Amino acid sequence: RKLRRGRKGALGPSAIEDAAAFLAEFRLFKTEAELDLMRAGATITDEAHRAAMTQCRPGMNEYEIDALIEYTFRRRGAWAPAYTSIVGGGANACILHYIENNAALREGDLLLIDAGAEVDGFALDITRTSPVSGKFSPAQADLYQAVLRSQEEAIAATRPGTTLSDIHDGVVRSLTASMVDLGLLDGAVDDLIETGAYRRFYMHKTSHWLGADVHDAGRYKLSSGADRPLEPGMVLTIEPGIYVAPDDELAPEALRGIGIRIEDDILVTEGGYENLTLATP
Ligand code: GLY
Ligand code: MN
Ligand code: MN
Repeated sequence: RKLRRGRKGALGPSAIEDAAAFLAEFRLFKTEAELDLMRAGATITDEAHRAAMTQCRPGMNEYEIDALIEYTFRRRGAWAPAYTSIVGGGANACILHYIENNAALREGDLLLIDAGAEVDGFALDITRTSPVSGKFSPAQADLYQAVLRSQEEAIAATRPGTTLSDIHDGVVRSLTASMVDLGLLDGAVDDLIETGAYRRFYMHKTSHWLGADVHDAGRYKLSSGADRPLEPGMVLTIEPGIYVAPDDELAPEALRGIGIRIEDDILVTEGGYENLTLATP
């Protein structure tokens, strides 16, 4: 409109720029007030995961757990789930974006829950995997410990200057070594990484930015194309997993149909990191 009034001397813009990349930087670095919202979201999400773990029984349906989680979020004042919750019993945990959430939970199976509350516009993203009837089988416990170990190592290594690729590479190395120990893979760890053989059981990345969206805005690379070093104020997920397809006839039989992921939300600090979701067992 200003340009149309140019005859009267009005000055209009000479260019229009997309502010998305500029604004994404503000989303990537959290203020203290934003972190307080994320901490509040972590507390609500923790309550929902605990309710699911403690109230889950064989014979219940995945949708009952899904509803319990959403009820807990809303009862505590969260806006909604930050994304469609994944509630996968047994081999459904091996389907990465399983959202049907409509199968019966069976004695002896694990239950993978990937669910996070959205509180005042900020998303949490937590995954826990726990036994439907309260006790891990030895095979389930072995796989669980392998995923947990890789995640604990990755979280401990989070600090300014490291990159998401460093974190992912460490997880891949740890998981691949465990896959050999557990009889899922055979060979030298370096070769299995080099050829990508580990991807049969770990086929996704380890991290993404988290904040106003679950997969939040913010550049992952520098303009040179190199990986972007972590800086204080960024929040990322660390979410390793192992998924053994139920029809993988080359895998040890006891491990088939088991899917495990453990996901926490990590704030980068000056001195290293703060695990915002540490409270969730
Ligand atoms: N819940 C989506 C994700 O973990 O990336
Ligand atoms: Mn995630
Ligand atoms: Mn998730």
